[in-house]
Amino acid sequence: MKSQSYQEKIIQTAKMIKELKPASVLTGAGISVESGVPPFRGQDGIWEKFDPVEYAHINVFRRNPHKVWNILLREIKNTLDKACPNTAHKALAEMESSGFIKTIITQNIDGLHQAAGSKDVIEFHGNFATLHCVKCKMPYMMKEISIKKIPPLCACGGILRPDCVFFGEMIPPESLYRSRQIASKTRLMIVIGTSATVQPAASIPLIAKKNGAKIIDINPQRTIITETVSDIFINGMAGTVMADLLKAIAR
Ligand code: OAD
Repeated sequence: MKSQSYQEKIIQTAKMIKELKPASVLTGAGISVESGVPPFRGQDGIWEKFDPVEYAHINVFRRNPHKVWNILLREIKNTLDKACPNTAHKALAEMESSGFIKTIITQNIDGLHQAAGSKDVIEFHGNFATLHCVKCKMPYMMKEISIKKIPPLCACGGILRPDCVFFGEMIPPESLYRSRQIASKTRLMIVIGTSATVQPAASIPLIAKKNGAKIIDINPQRTIITETVSDIFINGMAGTVMADLLKAIAR
């Protein structure tokens, strides 16, 4: 069979989005790369710089919160304080408001989908915008706390931690349940910028596929799901591909 060109894939995907709407979406770190947020794996990946076992495991945080705040969380906060939504986040928000997509399941903790205007977002790995005290559970907003002194402390003296999922922690049960429900019912899933290597998030497109959904895979590199799980692989950066898809849908 003749392989399709980039433009043919865009046209075919736009047609599927119109026919099978609302699509559901799974995003990973790649969608935020064009916002200046590095991915986890590969060139410039966070896990190339910091061993996650050393810096991102909940047991390390419990034993040595100063080390985790000082190295990993400080870097994430400094990056996310500057990050703004890019074309891909904005295109998804527009597609939601015009009914072409419904829920975004994101593995990202950067809040950029909501900043772009998306309403229905499942934060599979929690978020970095809020924190709580490990002692009294008092909630805090990340933008309101100072990290001049590490680790940041609650008024009660307890240590603050971000509401993201550390290695060794459970996925918030509500998020896991809802994501699986959506995956089992959706007719079309658009997967953007994930290496699909971390479970249980990586099983979401698989559940969708087993239940008869079509899967679109948008990534500048092939991944484990490319053409094994996905029906169409659109090889490109999220910003470019999503802008092209938005134009093709409007035609
Ligand atoms: P990864 O860093 O594993 O993968 C990022 C993917 O984005 C790769 O497949 C890249 O090819 C792709 N990519 C890079 N630039 C892109 C661009 N401009 N447009 C589209 N795609 C691009 O990130 P995730 O798959 O999100 O979990 O990682 C999953 C989880 O692993 C994270 O949520 C995090 C991490 O450990 C926790 O911390 C719990």
